[in-house]
Amino acid sequence: MAEAATTTRPAGDPRWAPPHPRGAVLTVEGVVEHGDQRGRLLGFPTANVALAGTGPGDGVWAGTVHVDPSGGGPLHVAAVSLGRRPTYYGEDGERLLEANLLDFTGDLYDRSVLVRLHVRLRPQQAFSGSAELVAQMQRDVARTRAWAVGAGLGHLLVAPPR
Ligand SMILES: Cc1cc2nc3c(=O)[nH]c(=O)nc-3n(C[C@H](O)[C@H](O)[C@H](O)COP(=O)(O)O)c2cc1C
Repeated sequence: MAEAATTTRPAGDPRWAPPHPRGAVLTVEGVVEHGDQRGRLLGFPTANVALAGTGPGDGVWAGTVHVDPSGGGPLHVAAVSLGRRPTYYGEDGERLLEANLLDFTGDLYDRSVLVRLHVRLRPQQAFSGSAELVAQMQRDVARTRAWAVGAGLGHLLVAPPR
């Protein structure tokens, strides 16, 4: 079935957002793809969106995921990884956006999402193993919670930090 051409840029192409004091630095729109499920095994399930091969913004970010944005779907706080997962795939991995939605269980496969990246927490790193990566992701999520509260998004969290 032919799809209407509604956009002039590829889905999942990160672009700089208009400057705003409390706004996003980058936004990415796309459709959530099926991943390889490793995130679930690690305890950090992710909603994955394919990215264009090159572009700005690789690293780990605190931000939000708006589900079905044109239909007014829910907003979630998320710790977001953008890059090639060097721990598992070296520098040649597929470039991917992976969002761990805080306090969310469920699947978002094939849903449209608008991801807003607000604060860059760190670069992508190649860890020596999954345990080291998981320990760092716990710190990323803690920092994302703190960011959300400071940004006035604490009401989106089930267990805001005190
Ligand atoms: C908050 C967060 C930070 C991450 N940081 C890194 C990182 O520094 N290095 C890396 O190789 N992968 C990183 N990842 C990606 C994980 O390797 C990936 O989510 C995991 O392997 C699961 O992959 P899957 O979604 O294909 O199942 C990060 C993911 C999240 C959610």
